[in-house]
Amino acid sequence: MTLSSDPRRLRLIDEMGLGPVWVHRVAPQDEPHVSDTSVPRTIRIATLDWQPMRDEVTSCVACELSRTRTQTVFGVGVQRPDWLIIGEAPGAEEDACGEPFVGQAGKLLDAMLVAVGLARTRNVFIANVLKCRPPGNRDPAPGEIASCRPYLERQIELLAPRMILVVGKVASSALLGGDQPMSRLRGKRLSLTIAGREIPLVATYHPAYLLRSGEEKAKAWADLCFAREVYEELGVTAA
Ligand code: URA
Repeated sequence: MTLSSDPRRLRLIDEMGLGPVWVHRVAPQDEPHVSDTSVPRTIRIATLDWQPMRDEVTSCVACELSRTRTQTVFGVGVQRPDWLIIGEAPGAEEDACGEPFVGQAGKLLDAMLVAVGLARTRNVFIANVLKCRPPGNRDPAPGEIASCRPYLERQIELLAPRMILVVGKVASSALLGGDQPMSRLRGKRLSLTIAGREIPLVATYHPAYLLRSGEEKAKAWADLCFAREVYEELGVTAA
């Protein structure tokens, strides 16, 4: 057993409120993920490799949404994506087919991505703050966001995206904290620090909102162009 998998040390870290930040991780091939059930859930998830985490999400019962979902929606796309797109939560169609953004909003999102040279099959990963559908598409509850957050953080860490595009106020607030309207968040180079790595982040309107408020599409387009500039400033070009 190494320091990073010692259950007593991990529990102590959790009780001190230090969370996974201080956990020294070794390469997955050197150490299997921690399976000791006495280890706090957040810290255990922070050690999971991709497929074990996917399996755990599939059978997750950490919150009430597990009772009403048809299936979990883990995310879709490529590993090591240029952009990671983060939405709010699966809707009815996503819950039915197990993939994010497949409904009308998803079609618009795909069109927006294509317009800046991106595609979920090529250079993007798409995930949500929640892996399960809130009944009636209500807003995610704070407890549900907190329960799902370790999965999203571990996804971000393992995917290591070059940048993040977050769509919608709910997802932006969940990721960044605070309660700022999109009008204050958009047009800025924000960032999210995950496992010690600062990742550039741009926020824009949710495609479902754009479907209802067509007059905002021009702003979303400006946001995507801005995000593209941020990405290009990183010194990489999408394939
Ligand atoms: N809206 C979201 O935020 N995510 C989805 O996957 C679908 C709709």
